[in-house]
Amino acid sequence: SVKPVTITITGAGGQIGYALLFRIAAGELLGPDTPVRLQLLEIPQGVRAAEGAALELQDCAFPLLAHVDVHDDAEAAFRGTNLGLLVGARPRTAGMERGDLLVANGGIFGPQGEAINAGAADDVRIVVVGNPANTNALIAAAHAPDVPADRFTALTRLDHNRALGQLATTVGTPVGEIRDVAIWGNHSATQFPDVSHATAGGQSVPALLAARLGGPDAAREWLVDHFIPRVAKRGAEIIEVRGSSSVASAASATIDHVHDWVLGTTNGWTSAAVVSDGSYDVPEGIVSSFPVESVDGAWRIVPGLELDAFARHRIAVSVAELEDERDAVRALGLL
Ligand code: NAI
Repeated sequence: SVKPVTITITGAGGQIGYALLFRIAAGELLGPDTPVRLQLLEIPQGVRAAEGAALELQDCAFPLLAHVDVHDDAEAAFRGTNLGLLVGARPRTAGMERGDLLVANGGIFGPQGEAINAGAADDVRIVVVGNPANTNALIAAAHAPDVPADRFTALTRLDHNRALGQLATTVGTPVGEIRDVAIWGNHSATQFPDVSHATAGGQSVPALLAARLGGPDAAREWLVDHFIPRVAKRGAEIIEVRGSSSVASAASATIDHVHDWVLGTTNGWTSAAVVSDGSYDVPEGIVSSFPVESVDGAWRIVPGLELDAFARHRIAVSVAELEDERDAVRALGLL
């Protein structure tokens, strides 16, 4: 029989945790042949909610679910872990300055990085979902010096999937036929959703948009004034319409990210925030979103893409924001 994969989920008693756990235990993360052990991490106030979810997991009788335990101690929760889904974070509350937010999250992701360094499995892979996701991943990686930096990532797959959804509707192509969309930069309003290399059903997306919207100028206007802001601000739109934040879609994107990382990308690129190797003038060491492929279980930044002046500008703006966050956490002693 196959040895179970150990998966640590932080913030498991929260909303995204509740949407994630059952899909993971059902086999959607690693496929129908891989049993999973779940190690749930919560703060003391969240432990009962995580324990309740664990009871329901038992009641689902998932054949692939080998074991679940609940911890309020990071060392215990990351011991032996192969996959860490870092969802729990400190949200920004009224009156909180950016510095306060960074300090509060540094107090979470620094110790979690240390716990990963101390006890995780040699092949550990981490995805940070909790915001500010890119900078939280940077902090965790900095506290895990023995873990290769390329094992730390942050989630921008939700932004990527949102872009696919918008394009499918506007171009009139099934979502599965759209390839090579990219999210660049920070998981924030400055992110750059880029369709310049994208195809739908084998045809260039910019050309299809021009044909559909009345010419290249109209297509460009749609991209700049509608598509980019709608993708970047979709989280706020969901809150306004649903009355609550994106939960199921965030969990779904987290599953897609880890699934493709472990099992490989099959339909062109996807997007993930990874530690920059200096590609595309993104300073080395910054956790930035790029177009990526997963080859042999490792993310590889898609090399050699031509970027026009507009794209270079948009990427530079978002990367400047990431450098700013990095400088702020460095000044606060969190790196
Ligand atoms: P939530 O508030 O329902 O759940 C968060 C859970 O984390 C709570 O149960 C809390 O007790 C727990 N927690 C807090 N500190 C912890 C710690 N130190 N260790 C373990 N658990 C801890 O929030 P929700 O809706 O589940 O969202 C979680 C995070 O995901 C938020 O930071 C949110 O901004 C972020 N998010 C990121 C997205 C992305 O695309 N990267 C998309 C949507 C949400």
